[in-house]
Amino acid sequence: MKKGREFLALDVGSARIKALACEARRDGTLHVSSLFVMPSRGMRRGMVDDVAEVAGAVNQALVEIRKESPNAHKAIFVNIASAYVKAQTSRGIVAVSRADFQIHHDDIMRVEAAAQAMSIPPNRAVVHLINQEYIVDGITGIKDPLGMVGNRLELVSMIVDVFEPAVKSLTKAVETAGGEVEGMIFGPLASARSVLTKNQKDLGVVLVDIGHEATSIAVYEDGKLVHVAAFPVGGANVTNDVAVGLRVSPEAAETIKCSYGSAMAKDVPARDMIELSRVDARAKGAVPRRFVAEIIEARYAEIFEFVEAELKRIGKAGRLPAGAVLTGGGAKIAGVIDRAREELRLPAQVGIPDVSRLEFAREGMMEKAEDPEFACVTGLVAWGKEHGEEPEGQGGKALGAFRKLIDYFMP
Ligand SMILES: Nc1ncnc2c1ncn2[C@@H]1O[C@H](COP(=O)(O)OP(=O)(O)OP(=O)(O)O)[C@@H](O)[C@H]1O
Ligand SMILES: [Mg+2]
Repeated sequence: MKKGREFLALDVGSARIKALACEARRDGTLHVSSLFVMPSRGMRRGMVDDVAEVAGAVNQALVEIRKESPNAHKAIFVNIASAYVKAQTSRGIVAVSRADFQIHHDDIMRVEAAAQAMSIPPNRAVVHLINQEYIVDGITGIKDPLGMVGNRLELVSMIVDVFEPAVKSLTKAVETAGGEVEGMIFGPLASARSVLTKNQKDLGVVLVDIGHEATSIAVYEDGKLVHVAAFPVGGANVTNDVAVGLRVSPEAAETIKCSYGSAMAKDVPARDMIELSRVDARAKGAVPRRFVAEIIEARYAEIFEFVEAELKRIGKAGRLPAGAVLTGGGAKIAGVIDRAREELRLPAQVGIPDVSRLEFAREGMMEKAEDPEFACVTGLVAWGKEHGEEPEGQGGKALGAFRKLIDYFMP
């Protein structure tokens, strides 16, 4: 069969690098030729801390991926995380140019340019520009104004921008590793793509990605993105608390957390004990599972407090009918749904990526991808596929804006 378009979805996280090499075939199918996971290096709080270290880790991943997909590294869709992410609304207004007041392509292009003209400080980089709605003579909520008649055409867009050095170092790390960045997507927007339904976005929902050193959120209402934020706290903090609380090594604390932990202490039987020698050969004695759960619960409560405070800031606390959808490795702790429900006063669920439309090359890959930790990378796949077909899809002008930015910063 003739080769389709190859691309790579790459999630460089603080704990792990996850990658899916894909081929968008001519018959419309999307074939995943390799699924790759390895420990990450050089990342801190979701961002590149040491470019050479990250480049080394990404290079290791690319060497493996090239064996199955020789060209995927030439078109990489990568996740950007940033504790300094901001979302803001921008508006463009133009007068319709034709004498008969019919709206043509050039009017739409002018209004888009006007919406983009918002001034962004020099240390910020626009990652997404998402068209929210057009307004024709005051009539709101128009998705496509082409051919409509009116005097005044307005466009409301959402701009997502991050700390510009974060973009530069991530690009540099990927390029040093021999990869080419085709698109950069703010992590929770990618995760939202693979786990949220249209109905949830219409009703109002918050996606909460609990990673290793960062937690990030994306809020949707009326089918539109309304807010994004990120906080420098995640699963690593939980593990450290367990290590300190039990005086065990971080490795033992990680195993205890993942195998015996819970974010709902009261659901853990009071008599259950954990033999420490089972997780750390040097450790002696036993600890009550409930005590461990209390430590874990306190940190998860803090994580959700950050989320709640952010929702309060935008007037959505306790007011999102489709509730919270949790992704990232941190969403795999027992009791997380009840903890989120209690802290956020919202319905909650864990987001499992919908991979039903993907064709996997090997057995076991699909089961691996159906994991909240894979939400981001599977969302990047959807983004990558759409980019090839229709650059102005739901992702807005993310890639166009980013291209400009690369041209500007990387001649
Ligand atoms: N079963 C589990 N229970 C609790 N926590 C878990 C479980 N499995 C994984 N984790 C935690 O998930 C975290 C890793 O999640 P993930 O892979 O989403 O992070 P990352 O993408 O590498 O990091 P970040 O998004 O912060 O850059 C680790 O802190 C790990 O301890
Ligand atoms: Mg992550």
